[in-house]
Amino acid sequence: MKKKTFYITTPIYYASGHPHIGHTYSTVAADVMARFKRMLGYDVMFLTGMDEHGQKAEQSAVKAGKLPQEYVDIIAEDFKDLWKTMKVSYDKFIRTTNLDHKEAVQRIFNELYDKGEIYKGKYKGWYCTPCESFFTDKQLKDGKCPDCEREVNWMEEEAYFFKLSNYADKLLDYYKSHPQFVQPEGRKNEMIQFIESGLEDLCVSRTSFNWGVPVSFDSKHVIYVWLDALTNYITAQGYLSNDDKDFKKYWPADVHFVGKEIVRFHVVIWPAILMALNLPLPKQVYSHGWILFGDGSKMSKSKGNVVDPKILCNRYGADTLRYFLMREVPFGLDGYFSNEALIKRINFDLANDLGNLVSRTIAMVEKYFNFTLPKVQRPSALDNELATFAINMVKDYQFKMDRFKFSSALGDVWLLISKCNKYIDETMPWELGKNKEKYDRLATVLYNLCEALRIVSILISPVMPSTAKTIQSQIGAEEKLCTWEMAQNWGALPSNITVYKGCALFPRIDVKAEMEELDNLLKASQVTEEKQPEEFINIDDFFKSQLIVGEIIECDKVKKSKKLLKLLVNDGEKNRTIASGISQFYNPEELVGKKVIIVSNLKPVKLCGVESHGMILASQNFEGNVKVVFVDDSVPAGSKIS
Ligand code: MSP
Repeated sequence: MKKKTFYITTPIYYASGHPHIGHTYSTVAADVMARFKRMLGYDVMFLTGMDEHGQKAEQSAVKAGKLPQEYVDIIAEDFKDLWKTMKVSYDKFIRTTNLDHKEAVQRIFNELYDKGEIYKGKYKGWYCTPCESFFTDKQLKDGKCPDCEREVNWMEEEAYFFKLSNYADKLLDYYKSHPQFVQPEGRKNEMIQFIESGLEDLCVSRTSFNWGVPVSFDSKHVIYVWLDALTNYITAQGYLSNDDKDFKKYWPADVHFVGKEIVRFHVVIWPAILMALNLPLPKQVYSHGWILFGDGSKMSKSKGNVVDPKILCNRYGADTLRYFLMREVPFGLDGYFSNEALIKRINFDLANDLGNLVSRTIAMVEKYFNFTLPKVQRPSALDNELATFAINMVKDYQFKMDRFKFSSALGDVWLLISKCNKYIDETMPWELGKNKEKYDRLATVLYNLCEALRIVSILISPVMPSTAKTIQSQIGAEEKLCTWEMAQNWGALPSNITVYKGCALFPRIDVKAEMEELDNLLKASQVTEEKQPEEFINIDDFFKSQLIVGEIIECDKVKKSKKLLKLLVNDGEKNRTIASGISQFYNPEELVGKKVIIVSNLKPVKLCGVESHGMILASQNFEGNVKVVFVDDSVPAGSKIS
């Protein structure tokens, strides 16, 4: 039988900075859901990736002294690296700088243009660079960006527009006929109000910068980064390409997970574009809240209060951080991140409740039965109560997971864990162990504990995949007993299982010492991050370079090199040889007689056999093209520049 498909996406992350805990939150949630659905037997497509175009990425690249492509390559690797560390099991990773994606975006733009859904006009409005968004006067909040509250700039430019204004009624009708489309409910109401206050046509091209996908028939325009980004959900599956089998198989997506500030793009612009393309809409857009700091601010790079998930992950392990994120903050609401809350969860939920239950159970099977439980089972009322509780809980858990109530689903699993700890108190195995005649009863109690742990391990596996495996191997449960089906089957473990002792799953942490240590680590990481843009030099540093005007007397290619030209330059006193990496951009004869700026006090170096005495100044644009800085012919060679 063909498996049912489940297509889930995260937003694609801006490649303008390194990943932080907020990004980790979105992605881990999607990963938990993908793993859960795979466990249930679905054919899952889990897509994540990078949003790499736009002014913000361009500016970050400039700041880092890199070409945009070089820069986004580094950031994309960084994200991938984090996802690997966090055990994120994505099926595809899309980057909007992929050629396939760029071509598909151009085709989509052309199709919308041909259909008359996109037309050429003039844009006037307020632009927020960090959010890559235009706003009307009305939309500004105290004259600032309504989303991030930063300064906005007035912009006027010739641009292409998408006829978004045509879609207000269609969207409202769609929301009505598909009540699950925008969730949670509160967000839907906000969006209805937003649409009812009037939709204007959307500006979908820019001429003010280059770092984007050009409009194929009007290349001075690049396609608006949100149009480029939103279409990733279909281009990644091959829409309008030669290989669109995944598109046919998985579209429409079952759910887009998005942060609350980008719901508008996903439930207004994106469905309107899909309607214009005559494509079905995603079944649901589910908005989660923000992870906030103690001061109530959203963690964002610009405010300098980033918590580095890699530090936390290296310290406590991916499973712990994943558990914390999914348990601490009910999905859909905002929640706070603090080191203290994290450590408390580790100590209480993981070390005390779960870790202890596992180690106590294993230790007792070891102590009383030398690791292997004998074949006896005499269920009592208490045992039946535990079994019924577990089986009912599995149903509640599934109900909640299906509705993305991760925190509450985990809460249910922890109720079973507490129930087991209580069961130990009630059955008092240490007392049973004092009397050989009660060993049958003791074996039954310990069997039930292993059985409950088997079910716990299955249910925590989407959130804590490694811990689940460790528990399963410690209680000697074979893989085939740890499937979703088997989670609903009390009594699946054979009664002669052999358990294995391992190290403590979650060692307890000394809160005070750890808090101090963690604080120092986080501060150190923030200081390094904040320092970078402030690497100013003072005027003395600048004057260490002697810049003078030189005249190029001769110029030849360097035989051994594809890049170098050998220049003979009159510096006002003498002729000096300079090797310069501009051979791909100039023919030697173009340069003879030109005045240039040279750095005259550079230490000589040998480049491909040429001893170079200085360097000439040139600029490099975003595509990597080089232009030498020429000086007006009237300036004599040897003139100083300062
Ligand atoms: N590139 C766009 C999305 C395009 S999707 C077609 C974007 N990128 S982002 O990097 O700024 O944010 C991506 C996601 O991370 C958003 O869902 C955002 O809500 C989430 N988070 C970023 N910081 C966050 C927190 N502090 N807390 C929770 N999630 C937040 O927007």
